[in-house]
Amino acid sequence: SVQASFVPKTKPKQVFLNQLHPRASLFKVAVLGAAGGIGQPLGLLIKMSPLVSALHLYDIANVKGVAADLSHCNSPAQVLDFTGQSELAKCLKGVDVVVIPAGVPRKPGMARDDLFNINAGIVKTLIEAVADNCPDAFIHIISNPVNSTVPIAAEVLKQKGVYDPKKLFGVTTLDVVRANTFVAQKKNLKLVDVDVPVVGGHAGITILPLLSKTRPSTTFTNDEVEELTLRIQNAGTEVVEAKAGAGSATLSMAYAAARFVEASLHALDGDGDVYECSFAESDLTELPFFASRVKIGKKGIEANVSADLQGLTEYETKALEALKPELQASIEKGIAFVHKQA
Ligand code: NAI
Repeated sequence: SVQASFVPKTKPKQVFLNQLHPRASLFKVAVLGAAGGIGQPLGLLIKMSPLVSALHLYDIANVKGVAADLSHCNSPAQVLDFTGQSELAKCLKGVDVVVIPAGVPRKPGMARDDLFNINAGIVKTLIEAVADNCPDAFIHIISNPVNSTVPIAAEVLKQKGVYDPKKLFGVTTLDVVRANTFVAQKKNLKLVDVDVPVVGGHAGITILPLLSKTRPSTTFTNDEVEELTLRIQNAGTEVVEAKAGAGSATLSMAYAAARFVEASLHALDGDGDVYECSFAESDLTELPFFASRVKIGKKGIEANVSADLQGLTEYETKALEALKPELQASIEKGIAFVHKQA
Protein backbone atom coordinates (compact mmCIF):
# COMPACT_ATOMS: atom_id res chain seq x y z
CA SER A 1 0.00 0.00 0.00
CA VAL A 2 1.02 3.64 -0.20
CA GLN A 3 1.39 3.87 3.58
CA ALA A 4 3.76 0.92 3.76
CA SER A 5 6.26 2.78 1.58
CA PHE A 6 6.74 5.33 4.41
CA VAL A 7 8.03 2.71 6.84
CA PRO A 8 11.80 2.92 7.22
CA LYS A 9 13.08 -0.64 7.45
CA THR A 10 15.66 -0.06 10.15
CA LYS A 11 16.54 -1.79 13.37
CA PRO A 12 15.53 -0.91 16.04
CA LYS A 13 12.16 -0.44 14.53
CA GLN A 14 11.14 3.05 13.51
CA VAL A 15 7.56 3.81 12.82
CA PHE A 16 6.08 6.52 10.64
CA LEU A 17 2.67 6.43 9.04
CA ASN A 18 2.86 2.75 9.73
CA GLN A 19 0.19 0.22 8.98
CA LEU A 20 -2.31 -0.26 11.73
CA HIS A 21 -3.07 -3.18 13.90
CA PRO A 22 -6.81 -3.72 13.41
CA ARG A 23 -7.50 -3.20 17.13
CA ALA A 24 -5.35 -0.07 17.44
CA SER A 25 -6.62 2.70 19.72
CA LEU A 26 -7.03 6.25 18.50
CA PHE A 27 -5.47 9.28 20.15
CA LYS A 28 -5.91 13.03 20.45
CA VAL A 29 -2.97 15.23 19.51
CA ALA A 30 -2.59 18.99 20.11
CA VAL A 31 -0.20 21.23 18.19
CA LEU A 32 0.65 24.56 19.89
CA GLY A 33 1.96 27.04 17.32
CA ALA A 34 -0.08 25.30 14.63
CA ALA A 35 -0.26 28.22 12.18
CA GLY A 36 3.52 28.52 11.87
CA GLY A 37 6.06 27.29 9.38
CA ILE A 38 6.45 23.97 11.19
CA GLY A 39 2.94 23.82 12.60
CA GLN A 40 1.13 23.79 9.24
CA PRO A 41 2.93 20.91 7.50
CA LEU A 42 3.11 19.07 10.85
CA GLY A 43 -0.67 19.39 11.16
CA LEU A 44 -1.02 17.94 7.67
CA LEU A 45 1.21 14.94 8.44
CA ILE A 46 -0.56 14.25 11.74
CA LYS A 47 -3.92 14.55 9.97
CA MET A 48 -2.74 11.71 7.70
CA SER A 49 -2.11 9.37 10.63
CA PRO A 50 -4.70 6.65 11.03
CA LEU A 51 -3.86 6.57 14.77
CA VAL A 52 -5.31 10.04 15.39
CA SER A 53 -8.98 10.65 16.22
CA ALA A 54 -8.70 14.38 16.92
CA LEU A 55 -6.21 17.06 15.97
CA HIS A 56 -6.38 20.20 18.14
CA LEU A 57 -4.68 23.20 16.52
CA TYR A 58 -3.75 26.16 18.72
CA ASP A 59 -2.06 29.45 17.87
CA ILE A 60 -2.32 33.09 18.84
CA ALA A 61 -3.56 33.96 15.30
CA ASN A 62 -4.39 32.56 11.84
CA VAL A 63 -5.31 29.07 12.99
CA LYS A 64 -8.95 29.08 11.83
CA GLY A 65 -7.99 28.96 8.18
CA VAL A 66 -5.37 26.28 8.68
CA ALA A 67 -7.94 24.11 10.48
CA ALA A 68 -10.64 24.71 7.85
CA ASP A 69 -8.17 23.75 5.14
CA LEU A 70 -6.91 20.57 6.86
CA SER A 71 -10.43 19.51 7.84
CA HIS A 72 -11.26 18.85 4.16
CA CYS A 73 -8.74 15.99 3.94
CA ASN A 74 -10.76 12.76 4.11
CA SER A 75 -8.67 11.06 6.79
CA PRO A 76 -10.37 10.16 10.09
CA ALA A 77 -8.91 12.78 12.46
CA GLN A 78 -11.36 15.51 13.44
CA VAL A 79 -9.70 18.94 13.24
CA LEU A 80 -10.55 21.61 15.83
CA ASP A 81 -9.12 25.14 16.07
CA PHE A 82 -8.34 27.20 19.17
CA THR A 83 -7.19 30.82 19.09
CA GLY A 84 -5.49 32.71 21.90
CA GLN A 85 -4.91 32.13 25.60
CA SER A 86 -8.64 32.06 26.42
CA GLU A 87 -9.10 28.90 24.31
CA LEU A 88 -5.89 27.13 25.35
CA ALA A 89 -7.38 25.13 28.22
CA LYS A 90 -10.16 23.80 25.98
CA CYS A 91 -7.56 22.83 23.37
CA LEU A 92 -5.58 20.76 25.88
CA LYS A 93 -8.34 18.92 27.74
CA GLY A 94 -8.19 15.19 27.10
CA VAL A 95 -5.25 15.15 24.69
CA ASP A 96 -2.71 12.32 24.71
CA VAL A 97 0.19 14.09 23.00
CA VAL A 98 1.04 17.82 22.97
CA VAL A 99 3.53 19.02 20.36
CA ILE A 100 5.01 22.50 20.81
CA PRO A 101 6.55 24.29 17.82
CA ALA A 102 5.44 27.74 19.09
CA GLY A 103 7.94 30.59 19.07
CA VAL A 104 10.27 32.47 16.77
CA PRO A 105 12.75 30.76 14.42
CA ARG A 106 16.35 31.77 13.61
CA LYS A 107 17.41 34.30 11.00
CA PRO A 108 20.85 34.24 9.31
CA GLY A 109 23.64 34.92 11.80
CA MET A 110 21.62 33.79 14.81
CA ALA A 111 22.42 30.89 17.12
CA ARG A 112 19.57 28.92 18.66
CA ASP A 113 20.35 30.50 22.02
CA ASP A 114 19.56 33.95 20.56
CA LEU A 115 15.91 32.84 20.60
CA PHE A 116 15.99 32.26 24.36
CA ASN A 117 14.52 35.56 25.49
CA ILE A 118 11.33 35.20 23.44
CA ASN A 119 10.81 31.45 23.36
CA ALA A 120 11.54 30.77 27.04
CA GLY A 121 8.50 32.80 28.09
CA ILE A 122 6.28 31.25 25.41
CA VAL A 123 7.21 27.70 26.44
CA LYS A 124 6.76 28.50 30.13
CA THR A 125 3.23 29.86 29.57
CA LEU A 126 2.21 26.94 27.36
CA ILE A 127 3.57 24.32 29.78
CA GLU A 128 1.68 25.93 32.67
CA ALA A 129 -1.51 25.30 30.71
CA VAL A 130 -0.42 21.74 29.87
CA ALA A 131 0.20 21.12 33.59
CA ASP A 132 -3.28 22.41 34.45
CA ASN A 133 -5.22 20.65 31.69
CA CYS A 134 -3.48 17.47 30.49
CA PRO A 135 -0.73 16.61 32.99
CA ASP A 136 -0.60 12.98 31.81
CA ALA A 137 0.05 13.79 28.15
CA PHE A 138 3.33 13.12 26.35
CA ILE A 139 4.93 16.54 25.75
CA HIS A 140 7.09 17.08 22.65
CA ILE A 141 9.14 20.29 22.72
CA ILE A 142 10.33 21.61 19.35
CA SER A 143 10.74 25.32 20.26
CA ASN A 144 14.39 26.34 20.43
CA PRO A 145 16.74 26.44 22.19
CA VAL A 146 15.64 22.87 23.01
CA ASN A 147 18.68 22.50 25.33
CA SER A 148 17.03 25.14 27.56
CA THR A 149 13.30 24.90 26.77
CA VAL A 150 13.09 21.27 27.93
CA PRO A 151 14.60 22.11 31.36
CA ILE A 152 12.22 25.10 31.51
CA ALA A 153 9.28 22.77 30.90
CA ALA A 154 10.53 20.36 33.57
CA GLU A 155 10.82 23.13 36.17
CA VAL A 156 7.34 24.47 35.41
CA LEU A 157 5.86 20.98 35.69
CA LYS A 158 7.73 20.46 38.99
CA GLN A 159 6.35 23.72 40.37
CA LYS A 160 2.87 22.51 39.44
CA GLY A 161 3.54 19.13 41.09
CA VAL A 162 2.91 17.12 37.93
CA TYR A 163 6.39 16.50 36.48
CA ASP A 164 6.77 13.03 34.98
CA PRO A 165 10.27 12.88 33.45
CA LYS A 166 9.22 9.89 31.36
CA LYS A 167 6.74 12.00 29.41
CA LEU A 168 8.78 15.11 28.60
CA PHE A 169 10.65 14.88 25.29
CA GLY A 170 12.87 17.37 23.46
CA VAL A 171 12.44 16.66 19.76
CA THR A 172 15.85 15.91 18.22
CA THR A 173 14.50 13.65 15.49
CA LEU A 174 15.55 16.12 12.81
CA ASP A 175 19.20 15.57 13.75
CA VAL A 176 18.71 11.83 13.24
CA VAL A 177 16.84 12.35 9.96
CA ARG A 178 19.65 14.59 8.69
CA ALA A 179 22.37 12.20 9.85
CA ASN A 180 20.65 9.29 8.13
CA THR A 181 20.28 11.26 4.90
CA PHE A 182 23.83 12.60 4.77
CA VAL A 183 25.45 9.28 5.69
CA ALA A 184 23.39 7.39 3.10
CA GLN A 185 24.41 9.92 0.43
CA LYS A 186 28.08 9.87 1.38
CA LYS A 187 28.37 6.07 1.62
CA ASN A 188 25.96 5.21 -1.20
CA LEU A 189 23.67 3.27 1.11
CA LYS A 190 19.98 2.65 0.69
CA LEU A 191 18.43 5.55 2.58
CA VAL A 192 15.65 3.66 4.35
CA ASP A 193 18.16 1.22 5.86
CA VAL A 194 20.42 3.79 7.52
CA ASP A 195 20.11 4.62 11.21
CA VAL A 196 22.58 6.89 13.03
CA PRO A 197 22.02 7.63 16.73
CA VAL A 198 22.54 11.30 17.60
CA VAL A 199 23.25 12.12 21.25
CA GLY A 200 23.98 15.15 23.45
CA GLY A 201 21.72 18.09 22.75
CA HIS A 202 20.22 20.11 19.91
CA ALA A 203 22.55 23.04 19.11
CA GLY A 204 25.98 23.32 17.49
CA ILE A 205 28.62 21.07 19.03
CA THR A 206 26.11 19.58 21.47
CA ILE A 207 24.68 17.65 18.47
CA LEU A 208 26.85 14.52 18.42
CA PRO A 209 26.15 11.94 15.72
CA LEU A 210 27.64 8.58 16.74
CA LEU A 211 28.80 7.55 13.28
CA SER A 212 30.58 4.49 14.66
CA LYS A 213 27.14 3.16 15.67
CA THR A 214 25.66 3.56 12.19
CA ARG A 215 23.45 0.70 11.10
CA PRO A 216 24.05 -1.10 8.84
CA SER A 217 27.63 -1.25 10.10
CA THR A 218 29.69 1.18 8.03
CA THR A 219 33.29 2.39 8.15
CA PHE A 220 34.33 6.02 7.78
CA THR A 221 37.73 7.64 7.23
CA ASN A 222 38.75 10.30 9.75
CA ASP A 223 38.06 12.97 7.12
CA GLU A 224 34.59 11.58 6.48
CA VAL A 225 33.82 11.58 10.22
CA GLU A 226 34.91 15.19 10.53
CA GLU A 227 33.03 16.33 7.44
CA LEU A 228 29.80 14.46 8.25
CA THR A 229 29.80 15.49 11.91
CA LEU A 230 30.20 19.17 11.01
CA ARG A 231 27.54 18.96 8.30
CA ILE A 232 25.02 17.34 10.67
CA GLN A 233 25.78 19.93 13.38
CA ASN A 234 25.42 22.83 10.95
CA ALA A 235 22.56 21.48 8.83
CA GLY A 236 20.05 23.81 10.47
CA THR A 237 22.23 26.77 9.59
CA GLU A 238 22.44 25.49 5.97
CA VAL A 239 18.66 25.89 5.78
CA VAL A 240 18.58 29.22 7.64
CA GLU A 241 21.10 30.66 5.15
CA ALA A 242 19.33 29.22 2.09
CA LYS A 243 16.04 30.72 3.29
CA ALA A 244 17.89 34.04 3.71
CA GLY A 245 15.72 35.61 6.40
CA ALA A 246 12.51 33.67 5.74
CA GLY A 247 13.02 31.35 8.72
CA SER A 248 14.59 28.00 9.54
CA ALA A 249 13.83 24.36 8.73
CA THR A 250 10.06 23.82 8.62
CA LEU A 251 9.29 21.00 6.16
CA SER A 252 12.03 18.59 7.20
CA MET A 253 11.26 19.52 10.81
CA ALA A 254 7.57 18.75 10.32
CA TYR A 255 8.54 15.40 8.77
CA ALA A 256 10.82 14.61 11.72
CA ALA A 257 8.27 15.73 14.32
CA ALA A 258 5.55 13.67 12.64
CA ARG A 259 7.82 10.64 12.82
CA PHE A 260 8.28 11.27 16.56
CA VAL A 261 4.52 11.74 17.11
CA GLU A 262 3.81 8.54 15.19
CA ALA A 263 6.39 6.65 17.25
CA SER A 264 4.81 7.98 20.47
CA LEU A 265 1.33 6.94 19.34
CA HIS A 266 2.54 3.43 18.56
CA ALA A 267 4.12 3.32 22.03
CA LEU A 268 0.86 4.50 23.63
CA ASP A 269 -0.93 1.83 21.63
CA GLY A 270 1.19 -0.86 23.30
CA ASP A 271 3.85 -1.52 20.65
CA GLY A 272 6.75 -2.93 22.67
CA ASP A 273 9.48 -2.06 20.21
CA VAL A 274 9.57 1.73 19.85
CA TYR A 275 12.96 3.47 19.97
CA GLU A 276 13.75 7.07 19.03
CA CYS A 277 16.43 9.58 19.99
CA SER A 278 15.20 12.38 22.26
CA PHE A 279 16.57 15.05 24.63
CA ALA A 280 15.14 13.97 27.97
CA GLU A 281 15.95 13.55 31.63
CA SER A 282 18.77 11.02 31.72
CA ASP A 283 21.25 9.27 33.96
CA LEU A 284 23.56 8.22 31.13
CA THR A 285 26.03 11.04 31.91
CA GLU A 286 26.49 13.50 34.77
CA LEU A 287 24.16 15.93 32.94
CA PRO A 288 20.52 15.97 34.12
CA PHE A 289 19.21 16.04 30.52
CA PHE A 290 20.87 14.29 27.61
CA ALA A 291 19.75 13.22 24.15
CA SER A 292 20.08 9.54 23.40
CA ARG A 293 18.04 6.73 22.02
CA VAL A 294 15.13 6.05 24.37
CA LYS A 295 12.72 3.13 24.54
CA ILE A 296 9.19 4.49 24.63
CA GLY A 297 6.24 2.58 26.05
CA LYS A 298 2.66 3.29 27.17
CA LYS A 299 3.85 5.30 30.18
CA GLY A 300 6.61 7.16 28.37
CA ILE A 301 10.35 6.55 28.48
CA GLU A 302 11.10 3.04 29.74
CA ALA A 303 14.86 3.24 29.26
CA ASN A 304 17.57 5.65 28.17
CA VAL A 305 19.59 3.30 25.96
CA SER A 306 23.17 3.19 27.25
CA ALA A 307 24.57 0.79 24.67
CA ASP A 308 25.21 3.53 22.09
CA LEU A 309 27.59 5.30 24.50
CA GLN A 310 29.76 2.23 25.01
CA GLY A 311 32.81 1.63 22.84
CA LEU A 312 32.94 5.13 21.38
CA THR A 313 35.79 6.10 19.06
CA GLU A 314 38.43 8.54 20.29
CA TYR A 315 36.84 11.29 18.16
CA GLU A 316 33.40 10.66 19.69
CA THR A 317 34.77 10.41 23.25
CA LYS A 318 36.51 13.80 22.88
CA ALA A 319 33.45 15.38 21.27
CA LEU A 320 31.24 14.06 24.07
CA GLU A 321 33.48 15.60 26.73
CA ALA A 322 33.70 18.85 24.75
CA LEU A 323 29.94 19.30 24.49
CA LYS A 324 29.19 18.82 28.19
CA PRO A 325 30.05 22.34 29.48
CA GLU A 326 27.91 24.06 26.82
CA LEU A 327 25.01 21.68 27.34
CA GLN A 328 25.24 22.04 31.12
CA ALA A 329 25.20 25.85 30.80
CA SER A 330 22.11 25.76 28.54
CA ILE A 331 20.31 23.46 30.97
CA GLU A 332 21.18 25.72 33.92
CA LYS A 333 20.06 28.79 31.99
CA GLY A 334 16.63 27.21 31.48
CA ILE A 335 16.27 26.21 35.12
CA ALA A 336 17.39 29.67 36.31
CA PHE A 337 14.84 31.36 34.02
CA VAL A 338 11.93 29.63 35.76
CA HIS A 339 13.26 30.34 39.26
CA LYS A 340 13.91 34.00 38.44
CA GLN A 341 10.27 34.40 37.43
CA ALA A 342 8.85 32.60 40.45
P1 NAI B 1 7.13 30.35 12.82
O1 NAI B 1 7.42 31.73 13.27
O2 NAI B 1 6.87 30.09 11.38
O3 NAI B 1 5.91 29.75 13.64
C1 NAI B 1 5.80 29.88 15.02
C2 NAI B 1 4.33 29.93 15.38
O4 NAI B 1 4.26 30.06 16.80
C3 NAI B 1 3.59 31.14 14.78
O5 NAI B 1 2.43 30.71 14.12
C4 NAI B 1 3.25 32.00 15.99
O6 NAI B 1 2.01 32.68 15.88
C5 NAI B 1 3.20 30.93 17.08
N1 NAI B 1 3.30 31.51 18.42
C6 NAI B 1 4.04 32.54 18.86
N2 NAI B 1 3.79 32.77 20.15
C7 NAI B 1 2.91 31.84 20.55
C8 NAI B 1 2.27 31.55 21.77
N3 NAI B 1 2.49 32.28 22.87
N4 NAI B 1 1.41 30.51 21.80
C9 NAI B 1 1.18 29.77 20.71
N5 NAI B 1 1.75 29.99 19.52
C10 NAI B 1 2.60 31.02 19.45
O7 NAI B 1 8.36 29.44 13.34
P2 NAI B 1 8.73 27.93 12.91
O8 NAI B 1 9.65 27.97 11.75
O9 NAI B 1 7.49 27.15 12.85
O10 NAI B 1 9.63 27.49 14.18
C11 NAI B 1 9.06 27.31 15.46
C12 NAI B 1 10.11 26.94 16.48
O11 NAI B 1 10.68 25.66 16.17
C13 NAI B 1 11.30 27.91 16.56
O12 NAI B 1 11.62 28.12 17.91
C14 NAI B 1 12.41 27.14 15.88
O13 NAI B 1 13.67 27.54 16.32
C15 NAI B 1 12.10 25.73 16.31
N6 NAI B 1 12.74 24.68 15.51
C16 NAI B 1 13.15 23.55 16.17
C17 NAI B 1 13.77 22.54 15.50
C18 NAI B 1 14.17 21.30 16.22
O14 NAI B 1 14.88 20.47 15.62
N7 NAI B 1 13.76 21.07 17.44
C19 NAI B 1 14.05 22.63 14.04
C20 NAI B 1 13.52 23.82 13.44
C21 NAI B 1 12.91 24.82 14.17
